[in-house]
Amino acid sequence: MWVRVMIKVKVPATSANIGPGFDSLGLALNLYNKFAFEEIPQGLEITGCDGRYKNKYNLVYRAAIKTLVKIGYKVSGLRIHMETTIPPSRGLGSSAACILGGVLGANKLAGMPLSKEDILGIATGIEGHPDNIAPALLGGLVVSILEDKKVYSSQVPVAKGIKFIALVPDFTLSTKKARAVLPSNVPYKDAVYNVGRVSLLLSAFSSGRFDLLKLGVKDSLHQPYRGDLIQGFQSILEKSEELGSLGVYLSGAGPTIMAMVEEDNMDFIREIRNYLDSMNYKWNVLDLEMDLCGAVYE
Ligand code: HSE
Repeated sequence: MWVRVMIKVKVPATSANIGPGFDSLGLALNLYNKFAFEEIPQGLEITGCDGRYKNKYNLVYRAAIKTLVKIGYKVSGLRIHMETTIPPSRGLGSSAACILGGVLGANKLAGMPLSKEDILGIATGIEGHPDNIAPALLGGLVVSILEDKKVYSSQVPVAKGIKFIALVPDFTLSTKKARAVLPSNVPYKDAVYNVGRVSLLLSAFSSGRFDLLKLGVKDSLHQPYRGDLIQGFQSILEKSEELGSLGVYLSGAGPTIMAMVEEDNMDFIREIRNYLDSMNYKWNVLDLEMDLCGAVYE
């Protein structure tokens, strides 16, 4: 008799880089993709997504199969159901959520043989960099680095009192395109600039010195090169600061712009919405908080 076992995984959105922490900082947000997995007698069935993703090239499926192969566990067939709320190709970690969903689903199908470290390593291997994967798995604000192809990560405590307002345009920007505009070398002074900002940023987050976030999120390694890909980038940054944002940065590779505000600031959202309504493109404003749990089986 065929025993049906349904595995459910919930993975948070993430905002990587946080200004100066290119490819190493990221934080998890309370916006989620959910995935359900079920072993079936044969074939592949994918539901809950656009028709063009209902095939073997689906990122969740590819991550799951890669993981099952690594574990050495065979499935006869697979049914995957997806419920996605993270907007894709917007710099909010939707690919990382899909990859992690696949890896976690496969791990549970195979009887949970993988450690968190294994999961982090496999998922990062697929994504290419750990800054979305690590916070999506662990929750909160996470620093991660790759050393000899191994991921080392550490959570940083964040003082209470801030929320994250994601300004999400209705156009997409692929990470590939946003990485292609980056230079292969940067001036020494730009590297030093970021070392100072990223250190200040982490100290400001953990100590609750939110007045320092504005300077702490400044970056000279990727934002200056990517700004031109996002219409209105500089003016939205300036407007957000004028409206009282504690710090504003390009989320991941963009095009989403993230504004951090005090959690009791009720005016910012209304005023930035009014401002964005006057722009050429449509911008959606999401009122988010940090997720502290990371990915979970439901
Ligand atoms: N650190 C990455 C980048 C995040 O900025 O290209 C996007 O996946």
